[in-house]
Amino acid sequence: MTEEIRLDQAQNLRELVKQNGRLARVLAVTSGKGGVGKTSTSVNLAIALAAHKKRAIVLDADLGLANVEVLMGLNSLYNLQHVIDGEKTIMQILVQGPGGIEVVPGTSGLAKLADLSAAARQNVLKGLKDLQEQTDFIIIDTMAGIGQNAISFAAAADEVLVVTTPEPSAIVDAYATIKTIQAVREDAVFRLIVNMVASSQQALAVTTNLTRVAQQYLGLRLSYLGHILRDPHVAQGVMQTQPFTLRFPNAPATKCVNDLATRLIQQKPENKEARAGFFHRFAQTIGIASNA
Ligand SMILES: Nc1ncnc2c1ncn2[C@@H]1O[C@H](COP(=O)(O)OP(=O)(O)O)[C@@H](O)[C@H]1O
Ligand SMILES: [Mg+2]
Repeated sequence: MTEEIRLDQAQNLRELVKQNGRLARVLAVTSGKGGVGKTSTSVNLAIALAAHKKRAIVLDADLGLANVEVLMGLNSLYNLQHVIDGEKTIMQILVQGPGGIEVVPGTSGLAKLADLSAAARQNVLKGLKDLQEQTDFIIIDTMAGIGQNAISFAAAADEVLVVTTPEPSAIVDAYATIKTIQAVREDAVFRLIVNMVASSQQALAVTTNLTRVAQQYLGLRLSYLGHILRDPHVAQGVMQTQPFTLRFPNAPATKCVNDLATRLIQQKPENKEARAGFFHRFAQTIGIASNA
């Protein structure tokens, strides 16, 4: 049986931070629209972070066709379903990816987390807790839009990386997603990545628009993390099942992703103790009573 996790006790969380030097920053990569580059950004950002000697784990919660594993040519035996079912621990299903990163292979069972049995949800939660103690970054590649899966992860994460392209429909959908996440978690931290831009100026124009609307209608501060240029090397990497940052280290998009990683490392958010709140928040969003 799974060990009982007492999430509500701030004392326990503090103890956990004290006992263990490591406590990952949890980043949820989200978007309104599909196909804007979440998976590509998650994987390549993790690789760029690993190049800075950070342990980075990508959790595949995007259950589309072009998933994290496909992008890297991995083919794993086990996935999160085995954790949900209590057959494996999360550390047992971790797969070594390229560039020193690791991957938690996903499962369609994640789509409706709150509908799983209480034991299954505890298994997921325990897995995330273990993961957070072992690594520097957990990058969660979520599904596009406002489905339960994406919102649960985004609302629990320490930071929400919102990916959009300059397309008006992507921007409108990004705004809708931000709004939905904020309704679940008022103090969510949003950071914008504008992907597939022709220039940094184009990214800034998108950011100016979106931050103004977010400020005006939601009263929230949306900060700009950076942009990724539209670059044919990205698609070439996909075709060759090799992340573009490794395959094309000098490509324009690689430089952009490296800049994103540097900025993320430099702009450390709040203290570790606050970060211990991730599983507490996640438990709440997936409907496990925090005093269970
Ligand atoms: N910066 C970019 N330049 C060119 N093509 C890109 C860029 N980012 C993503 N793409 C392409 O867009 C497609 C969708 O990317 P993907 O990461 O699968 O999006 P999502 O996970 O949001 O659905 C992929 O074919 C990818 O190669
Ligand atoms: Mg994807």
